[in-house]
Parts: sequence; structure tokens; C-alpha cells
Amino acid sequence: MQKLKHVAIIMDGNGRWAKKQGFMERIKGHEVGASVVRDLTIHASNIGLEYLTLYAFSTENWKRPLPEISFLMMLLDKYLQKELALFMENGIRFETIGDLSKLSDTLQKRIQDTKEKTAHFDGLTQVLAINYGSKDEILRAVNKAVECGEKVDEAGFDALLDTQNKPPVDIMIRTGGDHRLSNFLLWQAAYSELFFTDTLWPDFTIKEFDTIVKKFQKVERRFGGIK
Ligand code: IPE
Ligand code: IPE
Ligand code: MG
Repeated sequence: MQKLKHVAIIMDGNGRWAKKQGFMERIKGHEVGASVVRDLTIHASNIGLEYLTLYAFSTENWKRPLPEISFLMMLLDKYLQKELALFMENGIRFETIGDLSKLSDTLQKRIQDTKEKTAHFDGLTQVLAINYGSKDEILRAVNKAVECGEKVDEAGFDALLDTQNKPPVDIMIRTGGDHRLSNFLLWQAAYSELFFTDTLWPDFTIKEFDTIVKKFQKVERRFGGIK
């Protein structure tokens, strides 16, 4: 059976879910989506997963209307405020990837505070990708390497990425029906098993997650070699 350490999820379909439910505002989908994150995080912790990386806001999502962006930022702040207790109770470490410098001071402080309070835990690490884009991350890493003035090898480059020291992504899931990576973990997903589902993120269940894990465990991963 495959050893599973790291699952990454592109949580897509919140807006379409809200529309389908007859809500006037897309934001209702984001709100319900946040509760799915909570349930799945508890489950991931219970099954002994090491890393759960969730795409919360991309570098491209700034193109959205300002009220939606403001709501998403507010929701992130509210989520962290509320979930600190969950992290503490379940021994979950909280980390982020992405360029946080563009976020408000209040949100940056909340993120920092949550990281510090959970840094000592060694169970599941929940990694939120906030203002994250792979191209941005890779460019920042390249520029760090250039500043050092030394050539880097694969391990050296890995260490310059936001995901430094995290294992590569074993399973990459995208909900919402589209078959693309939307600038998410392009380097880290080099050998991920990809799973696409039509389920919209607010409808995603632990049962569906477990079905994906079961499929993953049956896959023969060759990494370019032969078995
Ligand atoms: C994903 O859901 C959440 C974020 C990008 C923040 P969307 O908001 O993209 O929902 P759809 O894809 O428009 O339905
Ligand atoms: C990807 O979803 C980003 C997140 C889930 C945060 P998008 O809805 O932004 O992706 P595209 O625009 O369909 O590629
Ligand atoms: Mg979308």
C-alpha cells in the first residue's frame, strides 16, 4: 500500500454552489466551504495524515470584485480566530504558503499568532495557500538563489520554496469539475496522483475523500522507473 503523507486540494466551486442553491451572493458558498475545511481537517488529523495543503486564495484571485475579495479576507480572519481551539485540541500545526505581505496587518498578525501558538505540534500540519501562485513562488525562490550568488541543486531549490521541508504532494484533488492546476504547486506536484471531481467544494464529503485515498493506495507509482 502507498504511504500517504501529503494531500493538496484545489477547493473550487463555491460560487457555483451558492448559485445552485439559489443564493444571490457567491459568498455563501465560501462560508459553507469553510465548514468543509473544518470537517476534513479533523478527519485528516484522525487518519494520521502529515500535511493537508489547501488553496484558499490565489495570486490571480485579486482579479475578483473587491467586495468578494474583502469577504474572503474577512472569512480567513474569522476562520483562524474560530479554529485556533480546534488546532489546540487536536494538536494540529498551522502553516501557510504564499506571499503574505499583500494582506492587511490585522490578518498577517492573526496568521503569525496562529502559527506561533501551534508551532510545537507534530501531528497534522494544515497548510493554507494564501495569495499563493506557483509562478510567484518559483520566481521568489529564483531571486533568492540569485541573491546568494550560488548555483542550486534540486534539494537546494526545494528549500527556497515556500513549502520548504514539506514532503512532495502525493494526492492532488480538484473539486468543481475543471481539469487544471490554476497555478497551484506546479513544482511540488511533479509526481502527484491527480484526482478531479465534479463535486462542488461545499458538497465535498469525507466519504469522497476516503474513496480517493483508497484509489491512491492501489496506484503503482513508478517515478520513472519500472516495477
Ligand atoms: C473557490 O471557489 C474558492 C476561491 C477561489 C476562493 P470559486 O469562488 O472559484 O467558485 P466557482 O469556481 O466560481 O464556482
Ligand atoms: C483556484 O480556483 C483557486 C482557489 C481554489 C483558491 P479559481 O476559481 O480561482 O481557478 P480558475 O480561475 O477557475 O482557474
Ligand atoms: Mg473557481
